[in-house]
Amino acid sequence: MQIIAHRGASGLAPENTLKAISLALDLGVGAIELDVQQADGELWVFHDRRLERCTDGHGVLSHQSRDYLASLDAGDGERIPTLWQVMSLIAGRCELHIELKGAGTAEPVAALTRRAEAELGFTPAHWVVSSFHHPELIRFKVLRPEIRTGALTASLPLHGARFAEELGAWTLNCDVDFVDQALVADAHRRGLKILVYTVDEVSDGDALAAMGVDGIFTNRPDRFS
Ligand code: G3P
Ligand code: MG
Repeated sequence: MQIIAHRGASGLAPENTLKAISLALDLGVGAIELDVQQADGELWVFHDRRLERCTDGHGVLSHQSRDYLASLDAGDGERIPTLWQVMSLIAGRCELHIELKGAGTAEPVAALTRRAEAELGFTPAHWVVSSFHHPELIRFKVLRPEIRTGALTASLPLHGARFAEELGAWTLNCDVDFVDQALVADAHRRGLKILVYTVDEVSDGDALAAMGVDGIFTNRPDRFS
């Protein structure tokens, strides 16, 4: 079962910061997940729609200027990183799961993955691009059909893994609160992998491994090494 550091090693350092990414790399993880949003023509690595929970700033991230976002403290004196800064830090050393958090992200992420392949030692096989925003995921797939995609759900879908197959995804990524044996079996029957978020307890990880889950997103990759 693959271990994917969720928002970096976010149980050990402020989530989605260079510090959390760096710690995950130090732990030797094979893959890191992060969240991406667009604001003022830049891609920012940040989970929430609003700034309050994770920074000393205020407001909706996508409404802010570059200067304002770059000035904020994202915890422990860390800044909100741009996607390019994270890519430059990782430089092809592990897989990167890029979660498209909103509209308008598919095109710039497609462009930046191409640039990172040209300049930073990544290959198309290093990326998995995922989203709850399924239309945005389709837009990405049209732009970069050779890159694996992950169809996210926070529910137990009525028709099992069908939606992920229809999206042409490589994985179905689902919530630990909803995953069950039938969904795992249905995903595999359709030729899909199944990844589960967010799993921080080893006993939960063991149960998911027994269920046949292919990978987990965890804030505590140190517990699963
Ligand atoms: O990609 C898995 C997981 O990150 C999805 O949920 O809300 O943590 O971005 P969230
Ligand atoms: Mg995410």
